[in-house]
Amino acid sequence: MKRILVANSKGGSGKTLTTVNIAAGLAHKGHRVCVVDADQQLSAKKWAKRRPAYCPRVDCVQWPKDMIEMPKLPKKTEFAIIDSAGGLEVAQEKPLFEGVDFLIVPVMASLFDELATRTFLRSLAEIKRIKKDKITILPVGARIDLRRKDTDLLAEFMEKNKFPLHTNITERAVYPSLARDGLSVFDHSQAQYVALQAQWATILETLVGT
Ligand SMILES: Nc1ncnc2c1ncn2[C@@H]1O[C@H](COP(=O)(O)OP(=O)(O)OP(=O)(O)O)[C@@H](O)[C@H]1O
Ligand SMILES: [Mg+2]
Repeated sequence: MKRILVANSKGGSGKTLTTVNIAAGLAHKGHRVCVVDADQQLSAKKWAKRRPAYCPRVDCVQWPKDMIEMPKLPKKTEFAIIDSAGGLEVAQEKPLFEGVDFLIVPVMASLFDELATRTFLRSLAEIKRIKKDKITILPVGARIDLRRKDTDLLAEFMEKNKFPLHTNITERAVYPSLARDGLSVFDHSQAQYVALQAQWATILETLVGT
């Protein structure tokens, strides 16, 4: 089983939205996926509860704050995707990083988000698995507007700080409206959704591997 942690200490950076779209994307590829909701807000769990039965299944378990090990997942789970809370302090949340293979870090194009994300990424140095290079870090541009200069500035900032962006996910009103119904861009096949699915393709390919 592969473990994926979606984290950034910066609140509202797109962690939950990333979690649910990746989960649904992998489920559409035929994988058995379980979202692990480690945020007391339980947004990902609420999304999973609303997910219609006709969509490829995404399991969900809650990871309570005081629990030092990941809870048991349904048998045959191939991908565990952990959605973490904003304000995460790496030193206090080391169990979240246990056994993690990929760390996805959504970051928005704004000075405050960039600086907070850099602090977060630097604080990861105290995690043993990171030191041993066992976790692939995938920073992802979140809520991106490709026409804005901020988008280039974000890419430059991340490059300069040795955490280059893996890809960009654009800002689209359909994301929050889909999420209301437990859906993702992968649950529709019209052209507008297919174009958005393409933005996630490189992340999904990296997670699945060759
Ligand atoms: N690509 C996008 N396009 C449009 N809206 C988006 C996009 N990504 C995220 N959002 C919206 O931005 C808001 C914050 O996103 P989200 O809840 O995923 O962030 P978060 O990092 O999980 O926040 P928290 O730290 O509170 O857990 C939500 O309302 C979400 O629907
Ligand atoms: Mg969240």
